[in-house]
Amino acid sequence: MLIATLAQAQISNTGNAKAGEKIYLKCRSCHVLDQPTNKMGPHLMNLMGRKAGNIEGFEYSAAMKAAGEDGLTWDEDSLKTFLSSPKTMIPNTSMRFWGLWENQIDDLLAYLREKQQD
Ligand code: HEC
Repeated sequence: MLIATLAQAQISNTGNAKAGEKIYLKCRSCHVLDQPTNKMGPHLMNLMGRKAGNIEGFEYSAAMKAAGEDGLTWDEDSLKTFLSSPKTMIPNTSMRFWGLWENQIDDLLAYLREKQQD
């Protein structure tokens, strides 16, 4: 019980899901979060724990596929690195996006976490 409470306190300190929902508007033109539909980008359902470049039917760049085959999995740490500057982490990714500030990423991750619990 105590551990669960502490873990929750920690989660609520790391980001604001309401603010994250606004930040997600930047992603929405290319990504769907609540159903397995690919747009310009692959859907982001159940993103946490997913291997990179692994959604069937989506045409990833060779760079993203290779990153997944090399063991890249999406979790809080890898998403922080990727979203702060996609092309720094994966130089030939086809995701055309400049990146977010660290506090924006914390909020966005809080929102993604909330959506995944639905
Ligand atoms: C202009 C369109 C566009 C925008 C805006 C965009 N993305 Fe992407 N995203 C893509 C494309 C295209 C890919 C596939 C990249 C590749 O294959 O190299 C991708 C890939 C990803 C992946 C890897 C998924 C996987 O299955 O491996 C994640 C995670 C991701 N995007 C998150 C985001 C988030 C979060 C945002 C908003 C902050 C965002 N993207 C904004 C187009 C976009």
